[in-house]
Amino acid sequence: MNVAMLQFAPVFGEVQENLRAIEEACADLPADLVVLPELCTTGYQFRDRKELLELAEPAGGPSIQRLSGVAAACGGHLVAGFAEKESDLVFNSAALVGPEGVVGVYRKIHLFSEEKRLFEPGNRGFPVFRAGGIPIGIMICFDWLFPESARSLALGGAWVIAHAANLVLPFCQDALITRALENRVFIMSCNRTGREERIAGKKYEFTGRSRMVGPDGKILADGPPDAPAVITAEIDPRRADDKKVTSLNHVIRDRRTDQYRL
Ligand code: ACM
Repeated sequence: MNVAMLQFAPVFGEVQENLRAIEEACADLPADLVVLPELCTTGYQFRDRKELLELAEPAGGPSIQRLSGVAAACGGHLVAGFAEKESDLVFNSAALVGPEGVVGVYRKIHLFSEEKRLFEPGNRGFPVFRAGGIPIGIMICFDWLFPESARSLALGGAWVIAHAANLVLPFCQDALITRALENRVFIMSCNRTGREERIAGKKYEFTGRSRMVGPDGKILADGPPDAPAVITAEIDPRRADDKKVTSLNHVIRDRRTDQYRL
C-alpha cells in the first residue's frame, strides 16, 4: 500500500487557492491513501463564529466534491480536515473521500483552546471506515493527547490511523511512537506549517514535522519543521493485525478490564 501525507500551509480563507495547491501536489502522486492537515481548505484561526459559518461547508459540499476528484486522480482515498456545517452547527471534521465521494466523516471530539468557543464537540464517537479493503480510523490534532482516541480506534479494528493535525504544542510527534506501539497500528500524522495571527496577541506557530509510525513504534518517515513536503512510504497494513509484543503478550487481549474501567 502506497501512502502519502501532504504537509503544507493553507492560506486562511482562500479555499479555492488551498484546493488548487492540494490538486497540484497530488497531481503526480499515485497513492492508495493521502492524509492532509486539519482544516486544510480554510485555515485554522477563525476570528468568530460568523466567519466560521461563512467558510464552513456540508460534507457533501463543493470542496469535498473537488477532493473526491483529487482522490480519483491519485487512484486512492484522501483524508482531509474541513469545517463541517450541519444546519447552524459547525464541527471540526475530517472526511475520508474516495473517487466515489464521501466514505465517512469523523468529528473532532477533543477540541483545543479557542476551538471550544467556535465548534461543536464531535458527537459520533470514533468510527472505523474501510478504504480499499483496509480499516481506517481518523483522529484530529489534539485527540492525540487522549490515549482513549487511538485505543478506541484500535479496539474498533483500525489498522491505519489518519491523524489530520494543526499542531502547536511540541509533544505530539514523540507521543505518536507510543500511541502506535501500544495499539500496534500505523499512524499517519499530517501536520501543517506556517503561522497565523489573525487576532492580535494570539499567534499560532504550526510545528510541521509530519510523522508516520509503524505498529512496532518505528518511525517510517518524517517531514521538515517549516516547509511544504509530500511525505511518502510503502506499508503493509496487515502488520497492524498482529497485536503481539511477545509470544505471550497481546496488547488488546492482555488488558485487565476487570482491574480498571477504560
Ligand atoms: C489542535 O488541536 N489544533 C492543536
